[in-house]
Amino acid sequence: VVLAAGLGYAGGCALAKGGKGSQTYPQAPVMPADAKVHKQTLTAIRRSRQLAAPPAPPTDILGYSDGPTIIRLQQGEWLEAAFTNRLHEHSTIHWHGIRLPNAMDGVPYLTQAPVMPGESFTYRFQPPDTGTFFFHPHCSTVEQLGHGLAGILIVEGDEVRPHDHDLVCVYRDWRIDKDGKYQPLMTDAGASKAGTFGDHRTINDQVQPVFKVPAGGDVRVRFLNVDMSRVVDLGIVGADAWVIATDGNPLPPQKLKSWRLGPAMRADLTLRMPHVAGTRIQLVNYYSAQPIVMAELEAEGTPLDRPAFVPAALKPASIPEPQIDGAETFQLRLSASSAPADLPPDLVLPDGSVLRYADALCLSPKTFWALNGQPWPSASHEVLPPPLVTFQRGKTYIVEIINQTPHIHPIHLHGHTFKVIGSSKGDVVPHWADTTIVAPKERVKVAFVADNPGDWMIHCHIIEHQETGMMGIYRVA
Ligand code: C2O
Ligand code: CU
Repeated sequence: VVLAAGLGYAGGCALAKGGKGSQTYPQAPVMPADAKVHKQTLTAIRRSRQLAAPPAPPTDILGYSDGPTIIRLQQGEWLEAAFTNRLHEHSTIHWHGIRLPNAMDGVPYLTQAPVMPGESFTYRFQPPDTGTFFFHPHCSTVEQLGHGLAGILIVEGDEVRPHDHDLVCVYRDWRIDKDGKYQPLMTDAGASKAGTFGDHRTINDQVQPVFKVPAGGDVRVRFLNVDMSRVVDLGIVGADAWVIATDGNPLPPQKLKSWRLGPAMRADLTLRMPHVAGTRIQLVNYYSAQPIVMAELEAEGTPLDRPAFVPAALKPASIPEPQIDGAETFQLRLSASSAPADLPPDLVLPDGSVLRYADALCLSPKTFWALNGQPWPSASHEVLPPPLVTFQRGKTYIVEIINQTPHIHPIHLHGHTFKVIGSSKGDVVPHWADTTIVAPKERVKVAFVADNPGDWMIHCHIIEHQETGMMGIYRVA
């Protein structure tokens, strides 16, 4: 091991070098000359933002500076995102939920070389599906995502009847105190249980914001849970609402009572605002003893005169339909693990500081979790284990996710959008998803056509679980 200078903040992967050695990465897709292209610059930087209430000073956060954090594309367009890393550790961009070619998936050491400080990488792909997606780094994720590094990607073109207003609501906790200072983003107690939580709960970085929307108008709420550990049972008080998409993918409108969204999960809602200007409706989280109001929508202006409200379905998804009959089942067991990483002793550097091998190699000093008995060996991707399974390209597979732990896990597959088809806890509304929540003792069945070749990540999206073992690779070949 060659130890280079420049250790970043604690837990970072500042020493990462080199990538897969002689191993080559998958081939980038070729953009046709006549492609309609949406160009975007995304520079990961440190900046500051007023999060805590004044007189607290602004908080240091990470962001994709010179671009809107919301990218809107039309279906059919290519995205050309020029990413530059101005952090002091490596990073990449993972386009969560997009069925894209493996080379664009943004997993360092697996699908591309890590983008080192000062380096750039251009992502080019054509998202096949409409919907509400997001993007985030895939290294040192507790540090980077925990400091706010994430953006929203919306692919438009799914509406049959346009809404009067389209509202993006990004939910996340910040682990900051009243003075805007960070508390530890990761704790052993959190990582080994339900995760570490922040108390500064925000929508679009504001605590309980009020959004003005047209009175009597039809509103589409795109709700994204980008938190690292918080589960949201999303509800609306003051109006009827329907779920029209899950993880960006259309489903027949479902009257909303509450809809459970683990970290990384999204739901699109449609609703009609009250007619009387000044009337407010609430976005509520029921996943707690007392329901928590996350944000409010206030009717404003002269009421729009619309015919009686019938929730309109979005255009159906164009994802290959799994052929369930005769499909092979792969069982994925989520379990606790206490396998300690076998590491040499810490190194004392000439200046007296102590270098922990675990940090230097991004190895998890502790693993708390495993998939099929195998804990991921590192907090990041420098050390790649063999795939848990190889799926034959073109075939339908059922993945049965079996939760043998006393905690909830939102399980995410890269590269494919699957259909949630069953649960041991009762009936499920079949729906497309890229992340599905599995409760303690529950078994959830998802199915998909393995049509996207490559090595893909599969992991829990409670980031502390991901970084302490609950992560693996599945191969489609
Ligand atoms: Cu948002 Cu590997 O995931
Ligand atoms: Cu988990």
